[in-house]
Amino acid sequence: IDGQLRRRPQPWWQARRDELLGLADGATPRYVYDLATVRARARALAAVAPVDRRYYAIKANPHADILRLLVDEGFGLECVSQGELEHVFATLPDLAPDRVLFTPSFAPIDEYAAAFAHGVTVTLDNIEALMRWPEVFRGRTLWLRVDLGRGEGHHAKVMTGGLASKFGLPVDRIDAFLAAARPLGVRISGLHAHLGSGVDTPEHWRSVCDELGGIAERIGSILTIDIGGGLPIPYRDEDEPFDLDAWSVGLAEVKAAYPGYLLAIEPGRYLVAEAGALLLTVTQVVEKSGIRRVGGDAGMNALMRPALYDAWHDVHNLSRLDDTGTAEFDVVGPICESSDVLGRRRLLPAATVPGDILLVADTGAYGHAMANTYNRRELPGETVLPAQGEPQ
Ligand code: LLP
Repeated sequence: IDGQLRRRPQPWWQARRDELLGLADGATPRYVYDLATVRARARALAAVAPVDRRYYAIKANPHADILRLLVDEGFGLECVSQGELEHVFATLPDLAPDRVLFTPSFAPIDEYAAAFAHGVTVTLDNIEALMRWPEVFRGRTLWLRVDLGRGEGHHAKVMTGGLASKFGLPVDRIDAFLAAARPLGVRISGLHAHLGSGVDTPEHWRSVCDELGGIAERIGSILTIDIGGGLPIPYRDEDEPFDLDAWSVGLAEVKAAYPGYLLAIEPGRYLVAEAGALLLTVTQVVEKSGIRRVGGDAGMNALMRPALYDAWHDVHNLSRLDDTGTAEFDVVGPICESSDVLGRRRLLPAATVPGDILLVADTGAYGHAMANTYNRRELPGETVLPAQGEPQ
């Protein structure tokens, strides 16, 4: 919008409008992914970060093309379920198991056994599992997920640390964990913490690294320190882009204080969020008691983030991209829930009518991955765009 502060560069989809309109025709709801953006984010991280091991948290977007690209870019993969593990090895049969992390939460014991059978690195975060299934864990080398006593992130529902959180072994129970592990011959070679998602302060990872470094010195057997994911992206024009340089400088300082360890990260959102857009077809435009609503052919079933976290995603009328948004609309879906709102009071062209294509931006992370079939609606489709300039 003219005159409005725009910190973000032009998004990739603006130059590809005609192509997107073509593939949306009769084929919405549909997520579209631009792999060049994924590659650019992967390389930006690799260029700055003093990090020895990068894992992509595939829960954000497990599309096979994205996994292949990120593995080619040198990333390992972080999985949280047996389903994710099987998907990874079906997609990439030659992937070395030591490039895969298994970081489940309250998983059934069979999934740990399956992960050991695959030979991947397994993370555990409680003593109870060790005590209950000694035969599965005996003689294994594990990573330990700790709870550093606080959560972080863009919404309370994505914080994964602190007393109220189900994740992680409290720091004051580490000695008890080691005491339970010793007679089983269980060795701890990694320390892991992930305190939340969409954390906008680069200092966060610096202090996580510092705290884990201190614990590692005490334990003695640690080789790798994994400081989690959680890197944010700018969802709104006024959001500052994440300061990768400040992040990297802070990490380098702490790493220098603990030179004996490999440093690992496991971002999801940062790599893929901006690479995805959700395309919808407008079904109805309705005014009721002064509020104009534009309805698309999918809502919270295709994209849960606004309903679940009050998350913001820009919405554009792709069919009328050159028209200034002059009219306020609530953007809603077809689901029988009042929370089925993708955006409130959004400026869209006043001429918006049924048949227009809407684009919901920055939905490459936790978009299709969290979509569901509520109300017996079909899952949205997915299309990976061919690299620009290349024939299809
Ligand atoms: N590592 C672990 C152990 C995690 O639990 C997660 C995300 C990540 C890494 C990757 O986090 P990221 O870099 O993507 O922030 N559905 C929510 C986000 C939930 C994240 C769950 N865990 C959302 O749409 O905001």
